[in-house]
Amino acid sequence: MEKLLVEGGKALYGDVAVSGAKNAALPLLAATLLTPGRHVLGNVPDLRDTRTFLRLMEDLGVTHERQGDTVTIDATEVRDAEASYDLVKTMRASVLVLGPLLARRGRARVSLPGGCAIGARPINFHLAGFEKLGVACRLEHGYVDAEVPGRMRGGCVYFDIPSVTGTENLLMAAVLADGVTIIKNAAREPEVGNLIDMLNGMGAQIRGKDSDRLTITGVKSLRPANCRIIPDRIEAGTYLLAIAASGGEGRVTNCQPAHFASLLAKMRQAGFGIQEGGDCVAVRQPLVNAGAPPGWGAADIKTLPFPGYPTDLQAQFMALMTLSNGISVITETIFENRFMHVAELQRLGADIRIDGRSCVVRGQGVKALTGAKVMATDLRASSSLVIAALAARGRSEISRIYHLERGYERLVEKLTALGATVGKENE
Ligand code: EPZ
Repeated sequence: MEKLLVEGGKALYGDVAVSGAKNAALPLLAATLLTPGRHVLGNVPDLRDTRTFLRLMEDLGVTHERQGDTVTIDATEVRDAEASYDLVKTMRASVLVLGPLLARRGRARVSLPGGCAIGARPINFHLAGFEKLGVACRLEHGYVDAEVPGRMRGGCVYFDIPSVTGTENLLMAAVLADGVTIIKNAAREPEVGNLIDMLNGMGAQIRGKDSDRLTITGVKSLRPANCRIIPDRIEAGTYLLAIAASGGEGRVTNCQPAHFASLLAKMRQAGFGIQEGGDCVAVRQPLVNAGAPPGWGAADIKTLPFPGYPTDLQAQFMALMTLSNGISVITETIFENRFMHVAELQRLGADIRIDGRSCVVRGQGVKALTGAKVMATDLRASSSLVIAALAARGRSEISRIYHLERGYERLVEKLTALGATVGKENE
């Protein structure tokens, strides 16, 4: 396994271009299973998770080739195969093959994902939704055996919680169903909108994009896709926070500011200068008032479904707040165990107290953190440690960085271009 070495305490300056969104690429790759032919997807990030997903699709009989950030998928042949436990446990988004396989072949066998570091991660809403469309889901030996005789029929699906992949799975199941499907309390994340645009471009009839009520009128067939993955709003936010926490200034380019407006509002509340362009966002350090300490103020966040503050940027914002001149309260409402980064941030000198679903972060000013050996536990917690290590005085070592490689393309290269001193080493 590899570790990341970071010489912290250096302000970061410059531009960083955002890659395609991991959490859009995965459902859009799955959607190519819906119909035979050659699909072309642009701006597909080359990540551990997208490579894993493409391997799963090869197991299902699909071939693909990558040229730069364009992936061409030939889904002419799709055979019965199962998404095995060994694969699904490494990437729970594999459950996204359920919807398209049920629509294309009428059956699918996928391992239940099991839990992960941040929570139990059940898929009961997905399965209950499929059953509303006439699918029989049988659970045994840790697998879901889902089957529907003939075409699925349109139905009414209500999500207790606006599940992102749940909404995506049901969209992919409903586009070829016989009749109209309504999804109520649907997720409104931009990645869901990217999937809706792709499916409608293939000939689907989906209305209600960006709202919590989606209406899908089933069609008999679809044509291959030719579309682009949206920029990764979580990667964009991660780099903005890294530049801010380091005491530097810079721009995140090739992004869609509207997709992470909640973060921009919170960074402004903390005192940073945030300037939005068409496809870029610039961050500048707060103006220091005479007699006031250098640095930024505190801001509270509470994670919520889009357009609320994203849970995938909770850990990264916490890293910034450990260096503030105030006290902030960070509340996580989406996942039950998403404070794994707290103990590691404390090793770097952070003053954080966990109180149920909230953390009280007592900022100690911009020089608060000192380098240390820390361990990555999950994708976004790892990026929080990178932000803190870059701001900390001295050297840090972050182990188990395979977590990072799941969701951040060319991380070392991009950070180095901003002036960071980072490198990888075998553990
Ligand atoms: C997606 O996960 C993202 N993953 C996650 O990003 C993200 O954190 C999450 O949405 C929330 O925004 C992908 O898109 C591949 P949910 P998903 O279903 O769809 C509960 C990252 O770091 N729930 O919206 O799995 C669930 O336990 C990852 O990139 C059920 O109870 O999340 C959670 O508490 C991490 N039953 C809440 O709903 C279900 O059937 C929201 O989960 C489904 C979900």
